[in-house]
Amino acid sequence: MCGIVGYVGPQQALDVVIEGLRRLEYRGYDSAGVAVVAGGEINSRKKAGKLANLEADIASNPLERSSTGIGHTRWATHGAPNDVNAHPHLSEDGSIAVIHNGIIENFASLRDKLIGEGVSLRSQTDTEVVAHLLAKQVLVTPNLGDALREVCQSLTGAFTLVVVQKDNPDLVVAARRNSPLVVGRGQGENFLASDVSAFIAHTRNAIELGQDQVVEITPNSVKVTDFQGNPVDVVEYEVTWDAAAAEKGGYDLFMLKEIAEQPKAVADTLLGRIDLSGKVSLDDLALDKKFLKNIDKIIITACGTAYHSGLIAKYAIEHWTRIPVEVELASEFRYRDPILTPTSLVVAISQSGETMDTLMAMRYAREQGAKVLAICNTNGSTIPRESDAVIYTHAGPEIAVASTKAFLTQIVALYLFAMYLAQTRGTGFGEAASEIALELASMPNKIDLVLDTAQGVKKIAEEIHNANSILFLGRSVGFPVALEGALKLKELAYMHAEGFAAGELKHGPIALIEDGLPVFVIVPPVEDELHDKIVSNIQEVRARGAKTIVLAEEGDESINEFADHIMRLPKCPSLMQPLLATVPLQIFSCEMATVKGYDVDQPRNLAKSVTVE
Ligand code: M6R
Repeated sequence: MCGIVGYVGPQQALDVVIEGLRRLEYRGYDSAGVAVVAGGEINSRKKAGKLANLEADIASNPLERSSTGIGHTRWATHGAPNDVNAHPHLSEDGSIAVIHNGIIENFASLRDKLIGEGVSLRSQTDTEVVAHLLAKQVLVTPNLGDALREVCQSLTGAFTLVVVQKDNPDLVVAARRNSPLVVGRGQGENFLASDVSAFIAHTRNAIELGQDQVVEITPNSVKVTDFQGNPVDVVEYEVTWDAAAAEKGGYDLFMLKEIAEQPKAVADTLLGRIDLSGKVSLDDLALDKKFLKNIDKIIITACGTAYHSGLIAKYAIEHWTRIPVEVELASEFRYRDPILTPTSLVVAISQSGETMDTLMAMRYAREQGAKVLAICNTNGSTIPRESDAVIYTHAGPEIAVASTKAFLTQIVALYLFAMYLAQTRGTGFGEAASEIALELASMPNKIDLVLDTAQGVKKIAEEIHNANSILFLGRSVGFPVALEGALKLKELAYMHAEGFAAGELKHGPIALIEDGLPVFVIVPPVEDELHDKIVSNIQEVRARGAKTIVLAEEGDESINEFADHIMRLPKCPSLMQPLLATVPLQIFSCEMATVKGYDVDQPRNLAKSVTVE
């Protein structure tokens, strides 16, 4: 939530900052703003709405050239998304500019104190207090880094703060607690950003910043300390993907590109981790075999789409390992006094690795003595760094707010872990292991086949785009797929959609069925014991007037007479079907949003990485 960029070096800072903001706009798009240091002054410009508004404003009234700049794209928390509340926020004398991601929880008391001291605040944000506190602090400790360290000690909550000062043309200072911040180390230039995509076109060398740290960058130096000023050893790493991976690459939408990348993302996540005999190698998994053998409970925790991948994985983990699995929304988990012991494993799933609810849940689990395994797509992000172990998904950068390829790779990573666990504990499933391995290996091709045939959903979207509501039904692993189909539609097409376990229909939801109501049904493979039951469910809703859109495997003719539309899926075992059935639902929600004229990549009110609780 909120994208942050800082730059110092020989390039025109404004260009670097705006380019970085363009790549980070998926993190928030309520307003955008920049500040550059030039001629002993801070020049700032900020505009409500998307980055394009700010760019138009700067084009009509250019800012001065500068070697030092900061920029921000906002997802509003405190104060409406207008020009005044946009970042940067300046001190009263204009000597200091601050941008911020997170929430300063004690801002109200700090604001009241500042007002009592005669300071006039201009905005409704929590951020502005930091600019005023810093302006006061530099009078006591003139070094900007020292001043920021001092001020941070008076703040509570979550924050990444990035600061420039008018008399320090070659310095950007930043602090981090609970919100993301990475350093890009260049040649004679350095960068700060919420994530590496902002500077990947300039350098692939990145530095992870830890909790409660301050970084000071100049063109030729990067200094990192803790909030007390003690030097900190940093971990530098090379980003494995390049700028092209974060571009649209000929597609109109990031979401369409990311849907199309799913066969490769799945293949990359499997690569080198499983052979066709079914042997899984997770060599870098930092959980010792003794612990794996003793696990007596697994709790999966995550949010949104990542939570749905956990719901699917529960079926496979329990089936293959016989370990009980609970799946819990991260925002609920730590507030219910969960029972955790040193033999509990908590699995935290997160594409971004920064989701605050998930981070807080995993921290809580560790405090209670449980071990935490992260399933994550973002190298060096906070959740894997604070976990006992991590399995990275190799989906590549996911830019569209609606998660697609991350979801499929999360399922794959969790399946690999389940197989590894079964293998380690000797709950081996013999012959079945190699069959599962073969099925997993065939998934990239099968997803490709679904992509080839799923374009028909565009016609369905045109036909039903005026519906007031759409329902999704599934059973077993098809139930979380139904939940995911509904979530995608809500977030992209802004319409009521709900996923139900088809067996629950008769216990209430069937009352919703009326003439013409579109109902998607995910039908398991013919040999699945639930197949015939769900075919009955289709008949039940059809008999009450529903328009049925049925996803069923090739050759399943039993559904023909009850379906208004049929989407065919390649044959596969039930546990693999979510990797195929989800894909047409992703395309459908994308098409629905397009037909309705909505912004698919940046849906209203949302942000890609949710770094507030
Ligand atoms: O980065 P995370 O995987 O932790 O994000 C979790 C959810 O915020 C995310 O999946 C969200 O639900 C997506 N926008 C759904 O498409």
